[in-house]
Amino acid sequence: MMDSPSRPKLFDFHGVSMTSSFTDNWETVQNFQARPDDVVIATYPKSGTTWVSYILDLLYFGQMSPERQNTIPIYERVPFLEITESGFKGTDHADQLPTTPRLIKTHLPVQFVPKSFWGQNCRMVYVARNAKDNMVSSFHFARMNSYIPEPGDWNSHFQKFLAGKMLFGSWYDHVNCWWKKKQTYSNLHYMFYEDLVEDTGREIDKLCSFLSLSPSAEEKTRVMSEVKFDNMKNNAMTNYSAKPGMNFEISPFLRKGIVGDWKNHFTVAQNEEFNEDYKKKMKDPTLQFRTEI
Ligand code: A3P
Repeated sequence: MMDSPSRPKLFDFHGVSMTSSFTDNWETVQNFQARPDDVVIATYPKSGTTWVSYILDLLYFGQMSPERQNTIPIYERVPFLEITESGFKGTDHADQLPTTPRLIKTHLPVQFVPKSFWGQNCRMVYVARNAKDNMVSSFHFARMNSYIPEPGDWNSHFQKFLAGKMLFGSWYDHVNCWWKKKQTYSNLHYMFYEDLVEDTGREIDKLCSFLSLSPSAEEKTRVMSEVKFDNMKNNAMTNYSAKPGMNFEISPFLRKGIVGDWKNHFTVAQNEEFNEDYKKKMKDPTLQFRTEI
């Protein structure tokens, strides 16, 4: 399948596949001045970024005015650091954010994260999702989002994923390098999408303990309810319906929100090829993903 002319192209950027929307503002991104209380939400795309962003936003600011909850979309509350689109820069967005702390989203592989975040010892929350479901989610997302490269048909998307020719690079490198970072940087909370699906309350407790937050039982119940898939899907501030460039008729942003949808996409042969390749790339026995729960 040919790429449509309006879709951006991937290119190699210091060994990582990127598009210009995420490299055009590079110097400013690299020189970004973090504050010690910034909280970074880092993910490989389609791993539950929005979900965790909303959880953190509610934990920190859920008690603020109802107006904030009803009028500011989640992607305006949580700036996307490295994005630049039609003159709009994520770094400016973060600089202008009125809240403390600032919640800042990034999809950057760990080696590209601006130095200032490490220097300021900022808290980092990394969310990882198993590769099979991640691949499925990114396939449907790329079909509907005209700001990123076209996925082609399912099999070509599958092959590109295995080859690491994806926006923000290889899933395998991303999850492994962030995992390794934990050994030298203790202010990093590494969590899994599958755990969040399995027991949202438990994962919120872990987040609160990492962030030194102590919501009341009532607040926690409210957060748990707000962040349920159906509630986020029906909430215009969290479902991305106001974002241009996305065609929800092709696929909604909050699509299925489950573990194991890969079974509806992978052929038996693809599953075998994937598993063989996975064994070669994922050598660290301490990093384990679940593809079903
Ligand atoms: P699916 O495409 O599998 O449905 P990101 O925010 O990183 O782009 O990730 C998007 C994925 O997270 C989508 O996966 C989306 O449905 C899922 N997601 C978002 N909110 C969720 C929630 N409250 N519960 C479960 N999954 C959620």
